[in-house]
Amino acid sequence: MLQEKYYPNKEFAKQARIKNMCEYNELMEWAKEDYEGFWDHWAREKIDWIEPYEKVLDESDAPFYKWFVGGKLNVTQQCIDRHIEVRKNKAAIIFEGDRGDRQIITYLRLYREVNRMANLLRNEFGVKKGDRVVLYMPMIPEAAYAMLACARIGAIHSVVFGGFSAEALRDRIQDAEAKVIITADGAYRKGAPYMLKPVVDQALEEGCPSVEKVLVVQRNNEDIIWIGGRDYSYNEMIESQPDTCEPEVMDSEDPLFLLYTSGSTGKPKGVQHSQAGYILWAQMTMEWVFDVKENDTYWCTADIGWITGHTYIVYGPLAAGATTVMFEGVPTYPDAGRAWKMVEELRINQFYTAPTAIRVLHKLGEHEPEKYDLSSLKVLGTVGEPIDPPAWKWYYEVVGGGKCAIVDTWWQTETGGHMISPLPGATPVKPACATFPLPGIMAEVLERDGTPVAPGEQGLLCITRPWPSMIRTIWGDPERFKKSYFGDVVKEGQPVYFSGDGAVVDEEGYITITGRVDDVINVSGHRMGTAEIESAIKKHPHVAEVAVVGRPDPIKGESIFAYIVLKDDIPDNLGEEVELTKEINEVIAREIGNIAKADAIVVVPGLPKTRSGKVMRRILRAIAKGEEIKQDISTLEDPSIVAKIQEAVRCAGC
Ligand code: PRX
Repeated sequence: MLQEKYYPNKEFAKQARIKNMCEYNELMEWAKEDYEGFWDHWAREKIDWIEPYEKVLDESDAPFYKWFVGGKLNVTQQCIDRHIEVRKNKAAIIFEGDRGDRQIITYLRLYREVNRMANLLRNEFGVKKGDRVVLYMPMIPEAAYAMLACARIGAIHSVVFGGFSAEALRDRIQDAEAKVIITADGAYRKGAPYMLKPVVDQALEEGCPSVEKVLVVQRNNEDIIWIGGRDYSYNEMIESQPDTCEPEVMDSEDPLFLLYTSGSTGKPKGVQHSQAGYILWAQMTMEWVFDVKENDTYWCTADIGWITGHTYIVYGPLAAGATTVMFEGVPTYPDAGRAWKMVEELRINQFYTAPTAIRVLHKLGEHEPEKYDLSSLKVLGTVGEPIDPPAWKWYYEVVGGGKCAIVDTWWQTETGGHMISPLPGATPVKPACATFPLPGIMAEVLERDGTPVAPGEQGLLCITRPWPSMIRTIWGDPERFKKSYFGDVVKEGQPVYFSGDGAVVDEEGYITITGRVDDVINVSGHRMGTAEIESAIKKHPHVAEVAVVGRPDPIKGESIFAYIVLKDDIPDNLGEEVELTKEINEVIAREIGNIAKADAIVVVPGLPKTRSGKVMRRILRAIAKGEEIKQDISTLEDPSIVAKIQEAVRCAGC
């Protein structure tokens, strides 16, 4: 049966950049016939080059692809300087604090703030092109200034999400060998102050010899410890900085930033992005997918600690000359109407959030959006995890009033920008379906040998040609880069990029993402490797073995389910288990952060292993879901373990 389709709003489509499927198909055909010509056209049209490039795409060292080879630019000129002539008094950033305080930062003010911070880093701290700067920041304008200040002087920023623990922060500082840390004393969340600087202090207590200076933005003026010669107040130092700063001339392929993300094995990977290709696609997708126009106000609720915050709060909107809203708080505080009140007051035109947030807002206030004037909305976006049809319909009907396009955007930290998404003025949408690849993106659902899957069958979601905003390497580990992304699927003799996601294509070519097929779980749109959580849990002295799996969750998408085998000498009884669960979650919070805490921790007598010792996670996933075990368990070293695990899960009431 063909699924019901929702067609673009006709009035909207008339003024959209891509107005119908004919235009989409023409762009796609152009890219297929003349791939380099297609990208050459957009790179010339969109980017303000300091020096033109000599070659569009260099594939000679695949998969280390190079784009716009030899071109020179500075990303901050693309995001700020070129707007000064035409929109200097336009709001670049509208900041809303947790407690409702607002700031409007015009492009001219942004230019000055970024230049002053760039001068501070360059002249006072000696930060040079190629140095790494770690940002551990709340959602305040200074976080955006810091990212752009790094880009101005050619330093490579690496933002670490403020929810990560000191241990996790330390790992990332060490891996990047950062010279400077930029942080804030704290910020506000749900009406109360919280602290960040003490986490930085703890991270730097041992093993971070590369760090010379810590710059502290005083957001909430809580008492913090200042270490002489290391810690400096941004608020004091910034006053005396000149507000112009010569931009560093950057090569297209110089690294712009690192962003650590989880894979299926080992420690987090420092995903490295480039200058030109990244900023080009960030800007183009703002224009095509959100169709942001000159007088629009755009709001993405992500945190700058994730790729969505990089590409669709800071770089994309600013490159497009848009007004981007930055929000310190959470959309449910002080009540379930907060987000809708902001949409009404700021007259938001494009709203971009995660399915978990949509499900929470739906649950808290089915009719809440109806109390507000949301008529300014034109495009509603979702990202980070599969959205379910009920949440999609509520978003479409109640939030969007049945007149807004919903763009379900599929992409990843590694892709830099959107890959598969509806175009708001063109694509007939099926609920909870990412629809088609964007023009220029060659996404295909394949078998491991590169053959396309039949309609309705699940396959591996691959991108079969390099694209400008793609990951360039994993910082310090090019072999892992090759193995992680170009090791699984080979098409016509050529390894192609495999995303780690599964997907299904229907008979009309619509792509629906089914979720990760590797050992990565997605909790509230936060991506976590089961291996990382397992190695944290193993640090608990009573734990002999552990296996972590994801379990479907009606709000969070997935939740974390941990099976624990205790060391022989540990008595296992329920009274202690409650305590143990608490302790294990404390270990996770210490090693990774609260976001990785397990929802269920069950002590089991053993794990289902093959004779070669491999843990059969599929069985554990099925047990966590309460499903019947359909697969053959006779090959297990001890088939009776399955019933024992099921019994333990039942007893634990999980
Ligand atoms: O599994 C996919 C899921 O999020 C993963 C990427 O996570 P991350 O790198 O943290 O980036 C999140 C923001 C881009 C993907 O491998 N994902 C992302 N968008 C969607 C999605 N799953 C389903 N539908 C989406 N629209």
